[in-house]
Amino acid sequence: MDGQLAIDVAGLTKTYGTFTAVDNLDLKVKKGEFMGLLGPNGAGKSTTLKSVSGLIRPTSGQILINGIDSQKNHRKALARVGCVIETPEFYRGYTPAELMEYAGRIYGLNKTETAIRARDVLEEVKMWEWRNKPIGEFSKGMRQRVALAQALLPNPEVIILDEPTSGLDPRGMIEIRQTLNSLKKRDRSLLISTHILKEVSEMCGTVTMINHGKVVTTGDVASLIHQSAMTDAGSVEIELRTLKDMTPAFITDLGGCAGVKNTEKMGSREVKVVFSGTDEDQASLVDVVYRYDLRLLGMTEKGADIEKLYMNLTKGEKASVQ
Ligand SMILES: Nc1ncnc2c1ncn2[C@@H]1O[C@H](COP(=O)(O)OP(=O)(O)OP(=O)(O)O)[C@@H](O)[C@H]1O
Ligand SMILES: [Mg+2]
Repeated sequence: MDGQLAIDVAGLTKTYGTFTAVDNLDLKVKKGEFMGLLGPNGAGKSTTLKSVSGLIRPTSGQILINGIDSQKNHRKALARVGCVIETPEFYRGYTPAELMEYAGRIYGLNKTETAIRARDVLEEVKMWEWRNKPIGEFSKGMRQRVALAQALLPNPEVIILDEPTSGLDPRGMIEIRQTLNSLKKRDRSLLISTHILKEVSEMCGTVTMINHGKVVTTGDVASLIHQSAMTDAGSVEIELRTLKDMTPAFITDLGGCAGVKNTEKMGSREVKVVFSGTDEDQASLVDVVYRYDLRLLGMTEKGADIEKLYMNLTKGEKASVQ
């Protein structure tokens, strides 16, 4: 057993009748890690998250939360888990303050603890000022923030969120993302499903993509995105832009660098480099720019984005991307 894992799912299967929604799925989230769970509609994301949150019973497989088996020791395993699974429908007449009192009782906190934690979490999601207003008057984004506050109330080490920004306007999305990013300081682990790819590249260190209930790929977001930029020949196209004009001598020197397969001048201050080398080699390209004092403006890997990764991995599927 790995003590460093916040979530350790092994061989998770969930069937509904003869239909297999989640199929022998493995998922590991380290302590302090933010993991994005991606996949097309019906891939099994919500089913996975509900199983990990203890809201549904898996057909088979093992789920460990901080090393504790959630099926053998349900209460203890889930005591440190906060989740928002479906867009919650609160009693519209309740205020956030009342909701926190209610949640505090469910989590077994005493009155003083609840009051302290309620203030902390409502401030954290920027809803403290609204604590005595009825939730029925709130926008969807505000309700989503209250839901997040409720999930954070017991100070969980593990947070599980199913599409927390779905249906929110751009401002609402950004606010939720900022709140989630601020949670990172506290060494919490997060498992979040989303269709907003930007959310994964902006917030998550790791990603797991699933389809038809199975893992398609998992790993470090930055390296998966880097791999997605690779052509079939195993090289990437790097575009270099400089402030000053590139001289023929510079282009020759650049072409002679380790890992450079080809250079193509795109304009007087832009060159495309077909490259297949190490990170060390890539850093040397920048050294050449400095040597010629050309002032580097930009260095981009063509096609290195999470959209491309997602589209490659869900090829042939009717993808649902925003
Ligand atoms: N209670 C249920 N009874 C029967 N089938 C179900 C049930 N819950 C989910 N399913 C099916 O399991 C599959 C996976 O559903 P799930 O909700 O986990 O997908 P998802 O990845 O969350 O999709 P979305 O992106 O649309 O939220 C779907 O085909 C769905 O129809
Ligand atoms: Mg879902």
